[in-house]
Amino acid sequence: MKIITCYNLKGGVGKTTINNLLALEIAQTKIIENGEERESKVLLIDADEQANLTSFFYNNIHKDKTIIDALVNDLNAEDIIIKSPNIEYKNVDFIPCNLRASVAIEYIANKNAREKVATRWFVKNLEVLQRYDYIVIDLSPGTNILNRNFLYLSDLILGIVKHTDIASLEGFSVFLERYKKDIEELELPRSAEIRVLLNNYTNKDTTTARIFNAYMNEFNDIKELMLESKISDSVAIKNAIIYRKSLRDYVEQQRINNKALLELQSVIKELF
Ligand SMILES: Nc1ncnc2c1ncn2[C@@H]1O[C@H](COP(=O)(O)OP(=O)(O)OP(=O)(O)O)[C@@H](O)[C@H]1O
Ligand SMILES: [Mg+2]
Repeated sequence: MKIITCYNLKGGVGKTTINNLLALEIAQTKIIENGEERESKVLLIDADEQANLTSFFYNNIHKDKTIIDALVNDLNAEDIIIKSPNIEYKNVDFIPCNLRASVAIEYIANKNAREKVATRWFVKNLEVLQRYDYIVIDLSPGTNILNRNFLYLSDLILGIVKHTDIASLEGFSVFLERYKKDIEELELPRSAEIRVLLNNYTNKDTTTARIFNAYMNEFNDIKELMLESKISDSVAIKNAIIYRKSLRDYVEQQRINNKALLELQSVIKELF
């Protein structure tokens, strides 16, 4: 089981989009285990009370329990996981979120060892959770206690930086600094693998792109972690999300240029 999150302190950089498309592409990529070919099993968790992932992948409004209720009230994973809610993706299970969860987040802050509430829940529910090859968690921007809980238990944090959004460089750089300090101060057992993905990439020579490229040279911490693969600004990506499809299925059905899909597959090859 590998726990992944695409993250940035900065909002609107494509965290939810990439978490969603990455999870579906991983789920459709065959792996070989003990000489046999099979598809990976993926659990997608929406841990952002704005519930964008819930509407992207599942339903516009979810009225039942959320991952936050599970953490606050110690509910069993089995009772809140929705088995393949999107029937086209049978090996992708889901834990949704909704706006009501924003109230419950405060209760996490009142718990003992409040940074490790999610870790304790994962350990308690390990038998169910380790059936998944990958668990992909979508977080809100910012550093609320819920985000910190999930960041501390992630195996891989993929920083999403948006091309032409200078504040997204700053947002991930500030996170990196804080995360390193937290690992020491909270005596966390280990650090996640951290990489950075450039999203909404455009090779158009616009003024904002030029300013961004120049500004990026000041962020050595981010440049060092940057994947070679990037994700272009792409209409196919926007549409795949709207139609609740994997990028692979959308590109195939529409018989359109598969550039963004090749990029996504190359990100996966570089990461795993
Ligand atoms: N590579 C891309 N090409 C085109 N559009 C994109 C791309 N990545 C993201 N978008 C679009 O950018 C917008 C913001 O994306 P998304 O909601 O995934 O960002 P976010 O970081 O999760 O935002 P928030 O901080 O609000 O959670 C969406 O409209 C999405 O369709
Ligand atoms: Mg989001």
